[in-house]
This record gives sequence, C-alpha cells and structure tokens, in this order.
Amino acid sequence: MTRLRIGVLISGRGSNLRALIAACSAEAYPAEIALVISSRAEAPGLGIAAAAGVPVAVIPHRDRRAFAAEAQPLLCERRVELVCLAGFMRILDANFVEAWPNRMVNIHPSLLPSFRGLHPQRQALAAGARFAGCTVHFVRPELDCGPIIGQAVVPVHPDDDEARLSKRILETEHRLYPLAVRLIAERRVRVIPGVVAGADVERVEILNARIPDISALNPQDCPRSPACLEPRLE
Ligand code: GRF
Repeated sequence: MTRLRIGVLISGRGSNLRALIAACSAEAYPAEIALVISSRAEAPGLGIAAAAGVPVAVIPHRDRRAFAAEAQPLLCERRVELVCLAGFMRILDANFVEAWPNRMVNIHPSLLPSFRGLHPQRQALAAGARFAGCTVHFVRPELDCGPIIGQAVVPVHPDDDEARLSKRILETEHRLYPLAVRLIAERRVRVIPGVVAGADVERVEILNARIPDISALNPQDCPRSPACLEPRLE
C-alpha cells in the first residue's frame, strides 16, 4: 500500500498530532507522517513527535513570508503530499496556502462556519449555542474558511464552562482528524465548486459515504448505543 505522506504543522500541546501518529501506527492506515514543523521551540507536541521517531523541524514564526520560505522547501524535501494544521496558531501567507490547493487541511473546534477565529468554544457558550463540535476543512487564505470535509457534534450542557466544553470537543477532534485524513488518503474526497446567490461556493463530496453516525462521535452522551463502540462518520 502506498501511504499518503503528511506534514503536520503545530504550535503547542500536540494532542491532535498524537492522534494522527496513533492512527498512522496502524498497518492498514493509508497515511504516514513525513514531517512535523513547529512554530515554537517549546511546543510540547515536539516531544510527542520525537518520541514517535517522526522527523521534526522548528521554524520560529517571525513573519508569514519568512515562515513560508523556510517551510516550503522542507515539506518538498520530505515529499509531503498533504499538510495538516493541528493547533498551528499563526495565519499563513496566502501564497503558501495557494501552493497547496486542496492539499492543506485544518481542524477547528467549532461547527464552521460558526465561530471562526480565537476561543470558538467561548464564543459558542456566549451565543447560547445548544450544540458545538469541530470541523476538518480544506484551508483557504481567509481564516477558518474552506470546504468542510467532516464535522463532529457534541451537545452543550447547561453547566458547561469553556474548559468542560473544550474537553468534550477535543475528544471528538482526536477521532475526526484521523478519519478525515484517511478519506483524503483513500482519494474519496472531492471539492465541488458552485454558485449560491451569485457568490462562488465550494463543498466537499465524499465518495461512497454512509450516513453520518453523529452519536458515535460522542459516546458519553449515548451510553446505550452500540454504535458508540464502532465510530463511523462516513
Ligand atoms: C485544537 O482544539 C484544534 O482544534 C485547534 O487548536 C487546538 C490544538 O490542540 N486548532 P492540540 O495542540 O492538537 O492539542
């Protein structure tokens, strides 16, 4: 099996990186991590990558263009085919994003297009949203924009604070991101352009998709469902 070579960009904790590393460690998983780049030398995620024997690089983020100028050759040298932003806390240079057309993805802890930008969980609570979640999407130059590949939903509980809600969402992130990367690696993800009310839009079509089993992504809230044991989104 030829595995899709992914490059993961991080800035901090690295729990999504850990989830991707765990997924890639399975023999049947169709992707492998070719490189991890951190924008911060002190990012705990670097330790996770090093412990897994994944090549790492640190590119301190001075400005967008300088970061791109250093990152691009490293990604090419490691023959990266898909760039995964996983808690990468900087806005990327637009030319860099455009150099990876439908080959750069991000995970964001909200149900996009709601609550873009910083503290989306806090934004969801402040808006009184009844449901929250996370989104994996293709990256476009505008912040937290781009066609949606997959989403996982969690309920917002009446006594939630930002920390509790973030933890519940993060658990689903760790399942959604490896699933989205797998679908891309299996070449089942297509971006379809369209027009709505005169504006250009894009949506993702997943080949051979099954109906999403949302509850399977949130086992805490469906203790009686056997589907919880077998998470499936497609
Ligand atoms: C995650 O919540 C991710 O959705 C957001 O930043 C956070 C990164 O967490 N983009 P981690 O570094 O993967 O633990």
